[in-house]
Amino acid sequence: QPGDLALTPPMGFNNWNSTHCRTEFNAAMIKGIADIIIAKGLRDVGYEYVNLDDCWAMPERDAAGKLVPDPVRFPHGIKEVADHIHAKGLKFGLYSSAGTRTCDSVGMPGGMGHEYSDARQFAEWGVDYLKYDNCNNQGVDYMLRFTAMRDALKAASAKTGRPILYSLCEWGSYRPWRWGREIGQIWRTTRDIKDNWASMLSIMKHNLPLAKYAGPGGWNDPDMLEVGNGGMTDTEYRTHFSMWAVMAAPLLIGTDLRVATSKTFAILSNKEVVAVDQDRLGKQGIVVAEEDGRWVVVKQLADGSRAVALFNETGTPRRIVSSTKAIGLPSAPRYRVRDLWQRTTRHTVGALAATVPGHGTVLLQVTPEREFSRSPRP
Ligand code: GLA
Repeated sequence: QPGDLALTPPMGFNNWNSTHCRTEFNAAMIKGIADIIIAKGLRDVGYEYVNLDDCWAMPERDAAGKLVPDPVRFPHGIKEVADHIHAKGLKFGLYSSAGTRTCDSVGMPGGMGHEYSDARQFAEWGVDYLKYDNCNNQGVDYMLRFTAMRDALKAASAKTGRPILYSLCEWGSYRPWRWGREIGQIWRTTRDIKDNWASMLSIMKHNLPLAKYAGPGGWNDPDMLEVGNGGMTDTEYRTHFSMWAVMAAPLLIGTDLRVATSKTFAILSNKEVVAVDQDRLGKQGIVVAEEDGRWVVVKQLADGSRAVALFNETGTPRRIVSSTKAIGLPSAPRYRVRDLWQRTTRHTVGALAATVPGHGTVLLQVTPEREFSRSPRP
């Protein structure tokens, strides 16, 4: 039942940001990643989908019009990889495009005109997640192209009983936040992220104003994580991860976990930060203050607390000051302040402040507390 899909933002892995279409993207890599997700406890943190991006198929369809898995990358086909992933208790995702070809110059055939047979094929392989791109669309109306695959996936899932999460990869050109919820579960809001500070920052700034469109069952997608890929500092990667969590973004790991450092694992597996992203209320955080590169971004949480990102866009340390009132909390005798990266807890009667390193983020969870010994009313 698509209505039950993505009640919180999807989490998992996708190979694109670490491999693009290079030959290291293959069955051995993907199975190795699935194994590590289990071995390192990332499944328990919430990472669930293992998704293949562009270039999993041969450049041409076969005589019957079917997509042909690349025999060098996937010598035993796609189902064998999907089975391995399912056997680990994980879910499996694939990629295609709502055009005649996919996006990469090597690429593969797109789904346009083949929606029903491709969707049937995907369902037979055990696909749980389809990322559907927008390249080579021949100018055909986006609504027609994206709804055709939605309907085909629905028909295919009805047969197999396996729901398929539908990720719309339309880069924001047709403002998919206005119509994405009717068609899929997540919609890209920007062009592709790159593994550098400027790219991450500009994507974040594009995605922040779209908060009102996000909620259980449908999420803004500011693209996949670059955490661990080497183009940013660990401080910057913590900002990237903190802000994606506060924006209730899909958390798709984009680094090769087989060679990831312990610092990368520490960022990706911070359960308290992930819990902010996955909060069941499903609110995307909003900007409550922004002055000279000092940001206060606040996400309302289901238990009445607020996650607060004190984000320093500048390159040198800054004092960032806010208050429980400014972040929208009701008045209370005191508040518990949990620092989700330092893993420390303190209390405040209202002031919230931190000295934040350049490009850094202090991520707090602030919870109103009752007085200790209020006796119950008769
Ligand atoms: C587009 C998408 C990327 C990736 C590539 C694959 O650029 O936005 O996320 O899927 O295509 O070619």
